[in-house]
Amino acid sequence: MTQMLHHLPVDAYTSQDWFDREQRIIFSNTWRYAGFMEDISEPGQYLSVQAGLNNIFIVMGRDRRLRAFHNICRHRGTQLIRAVGKTQKALTCPYHDWTYDLEGNLISVPDEEREFQNIDKSCLGLNAASVDVWKSMLFVHPDPNAGSIMDWFGEVDARVGPHEPETLPEYEDASNTYEIKANWKIVVENYIDVYHLSHLHSGTLQMYDHSKAEYGFIGPHYLFWEPPVAEYEKDQDSKLAAPRVIPKDQNGAWVPMLFPGIGIGAAEDGWNVYIVEPIAPDLTRVINRS
Ligand code: FES
Repeated sequence: MTQMLHHLPVDAYTSQDWFDREQRIIFSNTWRYAGFMEDISEPGQYLSVQAGLNNIFIVMGRDRRLRAFHNICRHRGTQLIRAVGKTQKALTCPYHDWTYDLEGNLISVPDEEREFQNIDKSCLGLNAASVDVWKSMLFVHPDPNAGSIMDWFGEVDARVGPHEPETLPEYEDASNTYEIKANWKIVVENYIDVYHLSHLHSGTLQMYDHSKAEYGFIGPHYLFWEPPVAEYEKDQDSKLAAPRVIPKDQNGAWVPMLFPGIGIGAAEDGWNVYIVEPIAPDLTRVINRS
């Protein structure tokens, strides 16, 4: 494939205005990685993430169903919960103690008779968002009618490797989160830059045959695959850093970048996610889990 040159103005990488528009138009209107299924494994467990301009949380209900809600109390808009945790049976707002059950219904209002006349609690449940699971990864969408995540990833689902990440153990030592002092698009552009593999990574990724790489866009998603070189494939299992997780006849490295910042690095011995999260025009957080 020949190189294409794309020209975005410098502002796209530096200005607060571009960043704000991206947050509003892109990140507030797409699926957002939130974690793995194992992060919420029992009723009452929850986690929250920032999805563009929306703070969304996922909670497991008493029926063990996952639900997502906007993290805003229906009284005066206080953030209801913080980060990650496990509650008992209900979610209580820290401001005036309005309390919601795990299914998002408002169940208790302190001093209800005295402070509020004729309040209809059934109309004041938490505002729903969407939650879905793809390859054991949890995703949220601010729109409660976002539909299935397969509408988003369906076309690429069969082309990101034969891996079954839900069956693989997580190596906590190999997982980390760090910040890069650069705009998020620079991080994504580096991830999909095939040209540099033979040069910058000549001493680290030489086990794959970059000349046979297959790559390109499907809609907004970027797919990448390349085979191992013959020398590496010979007696390969003894060279892997972890036990083999895919059949030998499907050897190769799948390294797609799914829109807008969901990188996957999958090969013979593992499955890694590389989540690109914009923090500011010149600051990006990367979440790595293997
Ligand atoms: S803002 Fe939540 S109870 Fe008042």
